[in-house]
Amino acid sequence: MDLFEYQAKELFAAHGVPVLPGVVVTTPEQARDAAAELGGAVVVKAQVKAGGRGKAGGVKLAQNADEAYQKAQAILGMDIKGHTVHRVLVTQASDIESEYYFSFLLDRTNRTFLAMASAEGGVEIEQVAVENPDALAKVPVNPIDGVDLELAKDILTQGKFPLEVIEPAAHAVVKLWAAFLAEDATLMEINPLVKTPAGDIVALDGKVTLDANAAFRHPDHERFADSDAVDPLERAAKEKNLNYVKLDGEVGIIGNGAGLVMSTLDVVAYAGESFGGVKPANFLDIGGGANATVMANGLEVILSDASVRSVFVNVFGGITACDQVAHGILQALQLMEQRGETVTKPLVVRLDGNNVEVGRKILDAARHPLVEQVATMDGAAQRAAELAATGGRA
Ligand SMILES: Nc1ncnc2c1ncn2[C@@H]1O[C@H](COP(=O)(O)OP(=O)(O)OP(=O)(O)O)[C@@H](O)[C@H]1O
Ligand SMILES: [Mg+2]
Repeated sequence: MDLFEYQAKELFAAHGVPVLPGVVVTTPEQARDAAAELGGAVVVKAQVKAGGRGKAGGVKLAQNADEAYQKAQAILGMDIKGHTVHRVLVTQASDIESEYYFSFLLDRTNRTFLAMASAEGGVEIEQVAVENPDALAKVPVNPIDGVDLELAKDILTQGKFPLEVIEPAAHAVVKLWAAFLAEDATLMEINPLVKTPAGDIVALDGKVTLDANAAFRHPDHERFADSDAVDPLERAAKEKNLNYVKLDGEVGIIGNGAGLVMSTLDVVAYAGESFGGVKPANFLDIGGGANATVMANGLEVILSDASVRSVFVNVFGGITACDQVAHGILQALQLMEQRGETVTKPLVVRLDGNNVEVGRKILDAARHPLVEQVATMDGAAQRAAELAATGGRA
Protein backbone atom coordinates (compact mmCIF):
# COMPACT_ATOMS: atom_id res chain seq x y z
CA MET A 1 0.00 0.00 0.00
CA ASP A 2 1.38 3.37 -1.05
CA LEU A 3 0.92 6.27 1.35
CA PHE A 4 0.33 9.94 0.74
CA GLU A 5 3.16 12.30 1.67
CA TYR A 6 1.34 13.51 4.80
CA GLN A 7 0.87 9.91 5.96
CA ALA A 8 4.50 9.06 5.21
CA LYS A 9 5.58 12.03 7.30
CA GLU A 10 3.27 10.99 10.11
CA LEU A 11 5.18 7.69 10.29
CA PHE A 12 8.53 9.48 10.01
CA ALA A 13 7.60 11.76 12.91
CA ALA A 14 6.46 8.80 15.02
CA HIS A 15 9.93 7.30 14.70
CA GLY A 16 11.87 10.51 15.22
CA VAL A 17 12.79 11.26 11.60
CA PRO A 18 12.75 15.09 11.50
CA VAL A 19 9.84 16.61 9.56
CA LEU A 20 8.18 20.03 9.64
CA PRO A 21 4.74 20.59 11.15
CA GLY A 22 1.88 20.53 8.67
CA VAL A 23 -1.87 20.12 8.34
CA VAL A 24 -3.73 18.27 5.61
CA VAL A 25 -6.87 20.05 4.37
CA THR A 26 -9.52 19.75 1.68
CA THR A 27 -10.67 23.36 1.14
CA PRO A 28 -8.97 26.74 0.53
CA GLU A 29 -10.61 28.10 3.70
CA GLN A 30 -9.05 25.32 5.76
CA ALA A 31 -5.71 25.99 4.05
CA ARG A 32 -5.91 29.65 5.12
CA ASP A 33 -6.67 28.66 8.72
CA ALA A 34 -3.88 26.09 8.72
CA ALA A 35 -1.38 28.64 7.38
CA ALA A 36 -2.46 31.20 9.99
CA GLU A 37 -2.00 28.62 12.71
CA LEU A 38 1.44 27.54 11.46
CA GLY A 39 2.49 31.18 11.07
CA GLY A 40 4.89 32.64 8.52
CA ALA A 41 5.48 31.28 5.04
CA VAL A 42 4.06 27.87 4.16
CA VAL A 43 4.23 25.45 1.27
CA VAL A 44 0.95 24.12 -0.15
CA LYS A 45 1.45 20.62 -1.56
CA ALA A 46 -0.90 18.46 -3.62
CA GLN A 47 -1.46 15.08 -1.97
CA VAL A 48 -1.54 12.56 -4.79
CA LYS A 49 0.21 9.24 -5.17
CA ALA A 50 2.39 10.34 -8.07
CA GLY A 51 5.87 11.78 -8.36
CA GLY A 52 6.80 15.05 -10.02
CA ARG A 53 4.13 17.07 -8.26
CA GLY A 54 6.40 20.09 -8.07
CA LYS A 55 6.97 20.16 -11.82
CA ALA A 56 3.24 19.77 -12.44
CA GLY A 57 2.51 22.89 -10.38
CA GLY A 58 1.28 21.00 -7.34
CA VAL A 59 3.80 22.44 -4.85
CA LYS A 60 3.57 26.19 -4.19
CA LEU A 61 5.10 28.59 -1.70
CA ALA A 62 2.71 30.96 0.08
CA GLN A 63 4.02 33.94 2.07
CA ASN A 64 0.93 34.26 4.26
CA ALA A 65 -2.51 32.83 5.02
CA ASP A 66 -4.29 34.64 2.18
CA GLU A 67 -1.76 33.40 -0.32
CA ALA A 68 -2.19 29.90 1.08
CA TYR A 69 -5.90 30.23 0.33
CA GLN A 70 -5.13 31.17 -3.30
CA LYS A 71 -2.55 28.44 -3.82
CA ALA A 72 -4.82 25.81 -2.31
CA GLN A 73 -7.65 26.98 -4.55
CA ALA A 74 -5.41 26.59 -7.59
CA ILE A 75 -4.08 23.16 -6.57
CA LEU A 76 -7.27 21.49 -5.29
CA GLY A 77 -9.05 19.78 -8.17
CA MET A 78 -5.93 19.84 -10.32
CA ASP A 79 -5.11 16.71 -12.30
CA ILE A 80 -1.60 15.35 -11.79
CA LYS A 81 -0.76 12.36 -13.98
CA GLY A 82 -4.35 11.18 -13.90
CA HIS A 83 -4.80 11.76 -10.15
CA THR A 84 -7.28 14.41 -9.04
CA VAL A 85 -6.07 16.45 -6.08
CA HIS A 86 -8.60 16.14 -3.23
CA ARG A 87 -6.30 17.22 -0.39
CA VAL A 88 -3.36 19.54 0.10
CA LEU A 89 -0.75 19.55 2.82
CA VAL A 90 -0.07 22.98 4.26
CA THR A 91 3.35 22.80 5.83
CA GLN A 92 5.88 25.19 7.23
CA ALA A 93 8.24 26.51 4.56
CA SER A 94 11.87 25.70 5.10
CA ASP A 95 15.00 27.57 4.12
CA ILE A 96 17.12 25.21 2.09
CA GLU A 97 20.87 25.17 1.79
CA SER A 98 21.14 21.88 -0.03
CA GLU A 99 18.90 18.95 -1.07
CA TYR A 100 19.81 15.26 -0.82
CA TYR A 101 18.25 11.92 -1.63
CA PHE A 102 17.92 8.94 0.69
CA SER A 103 15.86 5.74 0.65
CA PHE A 104 15.51 2.23 2.00
CA LEU A 105 13.78 -0.34 -0.14
CA LEU A 106 13.27 -4.03 -0.65
CA ASP A 107 15.63 -5.31 -3.33
CA ARG A 108 13.70 -8.31 -4.62
CA THR A 109 16.28 -9.27 -7.22
CA ASN A 110 19.03 -9.63 -4.66
CA ARG A 111 16.74 -10.80 -1.88
CA THR A 112 17.86 -8.16 0.53
CA PHE A 113 17.22 -4.57 1.56
CA LEU A 114 18.95 -1.70 -0.10
CA ALA A 115 19.92 1.80 0.98
CA MET A 116 20.23 4.42 -1.73
CA ALA A 117 21.85 7.76 -1.13
CA SER A 118 22.81 10.70 -3.30
CA ALA A 119 24.07 14.20 -2.74
CA GLU A 120 22.16 15.09 -5.91
CA GLY A 121 18.73 15.13 -4.34
CA GLY A 122 15.65 17.17 -5.03
CA VAL A 123 15.60 16.39 -8.73
CA GLU A 124 14.18 13.24 -10.23
CA ILE A 125 16.34 10.47 -8.89
CA GLU A 126 15.47 8.17 -11.81
CA GLN A 127 17.24 10.68 -14.04
CA VAL A 128 20.31 10.74 -11.80
CA ALA A 129 20.39 6.93 -11.85
CA VAL A 130 20.41 6.90 -15.65
CA GLU A 131 22.57 9.90 -16.46
CA ASN A 132 25.01 9.83 -13.60
CA PRO A 133 24.85 6.41 -11.93
CA ASP A 134 28.01 7.04 -9.90
CA ALA A 135 26.18 9.79 -8.03
CA LEU A 136 23.70 7.30 -6.58
CA ALA A 137 25.14 4.93 -4.00
CA LYS A 138 23.38 1.58 -3.62
CA VAL A 139 24.33 -0.26 -0.47
CA PRO A 140 22.83 -3.64 0.52
CA VAL A 141 21.49 -3.78 4.06
CA ASN A 142 21.43 -7.05 5.93
CA PRO A 143 18.06 -7.23 7.66
CA ILE A 144 19.51 -9.03 10.68
CA ASP A 145 22.32 -6.56 11.30
CA GLY A 146 20.28 -3.50 10.36
CA VAL A 147 21.68 0.00 10.19
CA ASP A 148 23.71 1.54 12.99
CA LEU A 149 25.34 4.95 13.04
CA GLU A 150 28.54 3.62 11.56
CA LEU A 151 26.84 1.99 8.58
CA ALA A 152 24.64 5.05 8.09
CA LYS A 153 27.76 7.23 7.84
CA ASP A 154 29.32 4.77 5.44
CA ILE A 155 26.25 4.84 3.16
CA LEU A 156 26.15 8.64 3.19
CA THR A 157 29.87 8.79 2.42
CA GLN A 158 29.33 6.53 -0.58
CA GLY A 159 26.48 8.84 -1.63
CA LYS A 160 29.04 11.69 -1.60
CA PHE A 161 27.26 13.69 1.11
CA PRO A 162 29.47 16.58 2.31
CA LEU A 163 31.41 15.81 5.46
CA GLU A 164 29.55 18.24 7.73
CA VAL A 165 26.18 16.77 6.68
CA ILE A 166 27.11 13.13 7.24
CA GLU A 167 27.04 13.22 11.04
CA PRO A 168 23.60 14.85 11.50
CA ALA A 169 22.06 13.05 8.51
CA ALA A 170 23.28 9.67 9.81
CA HIS A 171 21.10 10.07 12.90
CA ALA A 172 18.07 10.60 10.68
CA VAL A 173 19.04 7.56 8.60
CA VAL A 174 19.24 5.30 11.67
CA LYS A 175 15.76 6.46 12.68
CA LEU A 176 14.46 5.92 9.17
CA TRP A 177 15.75 2.35 9.28
CA ALA A 178 13.96 1.80 12.60
CA ALA A 179 10.78 3.13 11.00
CA PHE A 180 11.25 0.95 7.90
CA LEU A 181 11.63 -2.16 10.05
CA ALA A 182 8.94 -1.41 12.63
CA GLU A 183 6.29 -0.50 10.06
CA ASP A 184 7.09 -3.38 7.67
CA ALA A 185 7.71 -1.04 4.75
CA THR A 186 9.06 -2.04 1.35
CA LEU A 187 10.00 1.57 0.54
CA MET A 188 10.81 4.63 2.58
CA GLU A 189 12.16 7.47 0.50
CA ILE A 190 13.12 11.03 1.38
CA ASN A 191 13.56 13.37 -1.57
CA PRO A 192 14.58 15.95 -0.72
CA LEU A 193 16.31 15.45 2.60
CA VAL A 194 17.52 19.00 3.20
CA LYS A 195 20.09 20.83 5.19
CA THR A 196 18.87 24.22 6.38
CA PRO A 197 21.20 27.22 6.70
CA ALA A 198 20.95 26.66 10.47
CA GLY A 199 22.41 23.19 9.94
CA ASP A 200 19.25 21.21 10.65
CA ILE A 201 18.44 18.06 8.69
CA VAL A 202 14.77 17.76 7.63
CA ALA A 203 12.73 15.40 5.45
CA LEU A 204 10.76 17.77 3.19
CA ASP A 205 9.09 15.02 1.18
CA GLY A 206 8.34 11.39 1.94
CA LYS A 207 7.27 8.33 0.04
CA VAL A 208 6.30 5.13 1.84
CA THR A 209 5.05 1.77 0.63
CA LEU A 210 3.86 -0.64 3.30
CA ASP A 211 4.05 -4.38 2.80
CA ALA A 212 0.46 -5.60 2.42
CA ASN A 213 1.56 -9.11 3.41
CA ALA A 214 2.42 -7.77 6.86
CA ALA A 215 -0.85 -5.87 7.28
CA PHE A 216 -2.06 -8.40 9.87
CA ARG A 217 0.70 -7.20 12.19
CA HIS A 218 -0.42 -3.58 11.86
CA PRO A 219 -4.10 -3.07 12.57
CA ASP A 220 -3.22 0.63 13.00
CA HIS A 221 -2.27 0.85 9.31
CA GLU A 222 -5.93 0.50 8.43
CA ARG A 223 -6.21 4.24 8.87
CA PHE A 224 -4.14 4.63 5.70
CA ALA A 225 -6.59 2.69 3.51
CA ASP A 226 -7.47 4.86 0.55
CA SER A 227 -10.93 4.00 -0.71
CA ASP A 228 -10.70 6.49 -3.64
CA ALA A 229 -7.80 4.57 -5.08
CA VAL A 230 -9.29 1.09 -5.02
CA ASP A 231 -10.61 -0.02 -8.37
CA PRO A 232 -14.38 -0.70 -8.04
CA LEU A 233 -13.97 -4.08 -9.73
CA GLU A 234 -11.18 -5.02 -7.34
CA ARG A 235 -13.38 -3.98 -4.45
CA ALA A 236 -16.28 -6.11 -5.73
CA ALA A 237 -13.92 -9.06 -6.16
CA LYS A 238 -12.50 -8.61 -2.68
CA GLU A 239 -15.98 -8.67 -1.17
CA LYS A 240 -16.45 -12.03 -2.85
CA ASN A 241 -13.07 -13.26 -1.63
CA LEU A 242 -11.69 -13.60 -5.15
CA ASN A 243 -8.02 -13.30 -6.05
CA TYR A 244 -8.51 -10.64 -8.69
CA VAL A 245 -6.21 -8.02 -10.11
CA LYS A 246 -7.43 -5.57 -12.75
CA LEU A 247 -5.14 -5.15 -15.75
CA ASP A 248 -5.57 -2.91 -18.75
CA GLY A 249 -6.32 -5.30 -21.62
CA GLU A 250 -9.44 -6.69 -23.26
CA VAL A 251 -9.43 -10.45 -22.64
CA GLY A 252 -11.00 -11.41 -19.31
CA ILE A 253 -9.21 -14.34 -17.69
CA ILE A 254 -10.42 -16.94 -15.20
CA GLY A 255 -8.40 -19.94 -14.17
CA ASN A 256 -7.77 -22.17 -11.20
CA GLY A 257 -4.41 -21.95 -9.50
CA ALA A 258 -2.12 -18.94 -9.56
CA GLY A 259 0.48 -20.67 -11.72
CA LEU A 260 -2.01 -21.63 -14.41
CA VAL A 261 -3.50 -18.15 -14.42
CA MET A 262 -0.08 -16.52 -14.71
CA SER A 263 0.80 -18.67 -17.70
CA THR A 264 -2.64 -17.97 -19.18
CA LEU A 265 -1.82 -14.25 -19.04
CA ASP A 266 1.37 -14.99 -20.93
CA VAL A 267 -0.22 -17.06 -23.69
CA VAL A 268 -3.01 -14.52 -24.15
CA ALA A 269 -0.55 -11.63 -24.36
CA TYR A 270 1.48 -13.64 -26.88
CA ALA A 271 -1.56 -14.62 -28.95
CA GLY A 272 -2.81 -11.03 -28.77
CA GLU A 273 0.25 -9.78 -30.63
CA SER A 274 -1.22 -11.22 -33.85
CA PHE A 275 -4.49 -9.40 -33.22
CA GLY A 276 -3.47 -5.78 -32.90
CA GLY A 277 -1.94 -6.21 -29.45
CA VAL A 278 -4.94 -7.27 -27.36
CA LYS A 279 -3.97 -8.10 -23.79
CA PRO A 280 -5.31 -9.78 -20.66
CA ALA A 281 -7.88 -7.63 -18.83
CA ASN A 282 -7.28 -9.14 -15.42
CA PHE A 283 -5.80 -11.87 -13.27
CA LEU A 284 -8.40 -14.04 -11.57
CA ASP A 285 -7.59 -17.24 -9.73
CA ILE A 286 -10.67 -19.04 -8.47
CA GLY A 287 -8.42 -21.37 -6.50
CA GLY A 288 -8.04 -25.10 -6.12
CA GLY A 289 -11.23 -26.15 -4.40
CA ALA A 290 -13.60 -23.73 -6.07
CA ASN A 291 -17.25 -24.65 -6.55
CA ALA A 292 -19.81 -23.45 -9.09
CA THR A 293 -20.72 -20.38 -7.05
CA VAL A 294 -17.12 -19.18 -7.02
CA MET A 295 -16.98 -19.56 -10.79
CA ALA A 296 -20.24 -17.63 -11.08
CA ASN A 297 -18.93 -14.84 -8.83
CA GLY A 298 -15.72 -14.63 -10.84
CA LEU A 299 -17.46 -14.47 -14.19
CA GLU A 300 -19.79 -11.82 -12.87
CA VAL A 301 -16.89 -9.56 -11.90
CA ILE A 302 -15.15 -10.04 -15.24
CA LEU A 303 -18.26 -9.54 -17.35
CA SER A 304 -19.01 -6.30 -15.55
CA ASP A 305 -15.63 -4.90 -16.64
CA ALA A 306 -16.45 -2.52 -19.49
CA SER A 307 -13.09 -3.03 -21.20
CA VAL A 308 -13.52 -6.82 -21.45
CA ARG A 309 -14.41 -7.93 -24.99
CA SER A 310 -13.99 -11.70 -24.63
CA VAL A 311 -13.42 -14.10 -21.75
CA PHE A 312 -11.05 -17.02 -21.52
CA VAL A 313 -11.97 -19.62 -18.91
CA ASN A 314 -8.97 -21.89 -18.46
CA VAL A 315 -9.47 -24.68 -15.95
CA PHE A 316 -7.48 -27.75 -15.18
CA GLY A 317 -9.87 -29.82 -13.10
CA GLY A 318 -8.43 -31.16 -9.87
CA ILE A 319 -10.33 -30.92 -6.63
CA THR A 320 -12.72 -28.73 -8.56
CA ALA A 321 -13.87 -31.13 -11.25
CA CYS A 322 -14.66 -29.91 -14.75
CA ASP A 323 -18.38 -30.70 -14.44
CA GLN A 324 -18.65 -28.25 -11.53
CA VAL A 325 -16.83 -25.65 -13.54
CA ALA A 326 -19.19 -26.19 -16.48
CA HIS A 327 -22.19 -25.78 -14.18
CA GLY A 328 -20.62 -22.68 -12.71
CA ILE A 329 -20.23 -21.07 -16.11
CA LEU A 330 -23.85 -21.78 -17.05
CA GLN A 331 -25.11 -20.63 -13.65
CA ALA A 332 -23.23 -17.37 -13.92
CA LEU A 333 -24.73 -16.64 -17.33
CA GLN A 334 -28.19 -17.55 -16.10
CA LEU A 335 -27.80 -15.40 -13.00
CA MET A 336 -26.84 -12.34 -15.02
CA GLU A 337 -29.61 -12.85 -17.56
CA GLN A 338 -32.17 -13.18 -14.75
CA ARG A 339 -31.02 -9.84 -13.43
CA GLY A 340 -31.81 -8.35 -16.79
CA GLU A 341 -28.17 -7.86 -17.75
CA THR A 342 -27.64 -8.78 -21.36
CA VAL A 343 -24.43 -10.69 -21.66
CA THR A 344 -22.92 -10.18 -25.07
CA LYS A 345 -19.30 -11.09 -24.50
CA PRO A 346 -18.14 -14.39 -25.96
CA LEU A 347 -16.61 -16.99 -23.64
CA VAL A 348 -13.88 -19.34 -24.75
CA VAL A 349 -13.63 -22.32 -22.43
CA ARG A 350 -10.77 -24.75 -22.18
CA LEU A 351 -11.39 -27.62 -19.80
CA ASP A 352 -8.98 -30.39 -18.97
CA GLY A 353 -8.25 -32.72 -16.08
CA ASN A 354 -10.64 -34.27 -13.57
CA ASN A 355 -13.99 -35.19 -15.16
CA VAL A 356 -13.23 -33.35 -18.36
CA GLU A 357 -15.52 -35.47 -20.54
CA VAL A 358 -18.55 -34.79 -18.35
CA GLY A 359 -17.70 -31.07 -18.16
CA ARG A 360 -17.40 -30.73 -21.92
CA LYS A 361 -20.68 -32.60 -22.46
CA ILE A 362 -22.52 -30.30 -20.08
CA LEU A 363 -21.39 -27.26 -22.03
CA ASP A 364 -22.09 -28.90 -25.39
CA ALA A 365 -25.57 -29.88 -24.29
CA ALA A 366 -26.36 -26.36 -23.07
CA ARG A 367 -25.62 -24.94 -26.55
CA HIS A 368 -25.20 -21.48 -25.10
CA PRO A 369 -24.65 -19.11 -28.03
CA LEU A 370 -21.86 -17.25 -26.24
CA VAL A 371 -19.88 -20.26 -25.08
CA GLU A 372 -17.30 -21.89 -27.30
CA GLN A 373 -15.00 -24.73 -26.27
CA VAL A 374 -11.45 -25.11 -27.46
CA ALA A 375 -9.47 -28.16 -26.38
CA THR A 376 -5.99 -26.68 -25.98
CA MET A 377 -4.70 -23.75 -23.96
CA ASP A 378 -2.84 -22.16 -26.89
CA GLY A 379 -5.78 -22.65 -29.23
CA ALA A 380 -8.18 -21.15 -26.72
CA ALA A 381 -5.88 -18.16 -26.09
CA GLN A 382 -5.69 -17.58 -29.81
CA ARG A 383 -9.48 -17.72 -30.18
CA ALA A 384 -10.11 -15.45 -27.18
CA ALA A 385 -7.65 -12.89 -28.53
CA GLU A 386 -9.27 -13.06 -31.96
CA LEU A 387 -12.74 -12.54 -30.49
CA ALA A 388 -11.50 -9.59 -28.42
CA ALA A 389 -10.02 -8.03 -31.54
CA THR A 390 -12.94 -8.60 -33.88
CA GLY A 391 -15.62 -8.00 -31.27
CA GLY A 392 -17.72 -10.97 -32.28
CA ARG A 393 -17.76 -14.27 -34.04
CA ALA A 394 -15.45 -13.94 -36.96
N1 LIG B 1 8.30 22.60 3.20
C1 LIG B 1 9.03 23.05 2.17
N2 LIG B 1 9.73 24.19 2.30
C2 LIG B 1 10.48 24.66 1.26
N3 LIG B 1 10.58 24.06 0.08
C3 LIG B 1 9.91 22.91 -0.10
C4 LIG B 1 9.11 22.36 0.93
N4 LIG B 1 8.57 21.22 0.46
C5 LIG B 1 9.02 21.09 -0.80
N5 LIG B 1 9.83 22.09 -1.15
C6 LIG B 1 10.53 22.27 -2.44
O1 LIG B 1 9.73 21.77 -3.50
C7 LIG B 1 10.42 20.73 -4.18
C8 LIG B 1 9.43 19.67 -4.60
O2 LIG B 1 8.77 19.18 -3.48
P1 LIG B 1 8.54 17.64 -3.21
O3 LIG B 1 9.80 16.88 -3.38
O4 LIG B 1 7.87 17.51 -1.94
O5 LIG B 1 7.51 17.24 -4.33
P2 LIG B 1 7.65 16.48 -5.73
O6 LIG B 1 8.00 17.47 -6.77
O7 LIG B 1 6.36 15.81 -5.94
O8 LIG B 1 8.76 15.47 -5.60
P3 LIG B 1 8.69 13.96 -6.05
O9 LIG B 1 8.79 13.97 -7.55
O10 LIG B 1 9.87 13.37 -5.37
O11 LIG B 1 7.39 13.40 -5.56
C9 LIG B 1 11.46 20.23 -3.21
O12 LIG B 1 12.56 19.67 -3.87
C10 LIG B 1 11.81 21.50 -2.46
O13 LIG B 1 12.78 22.24 -3.16
MG1 LIG C 1 10.09 14.91 -3.83
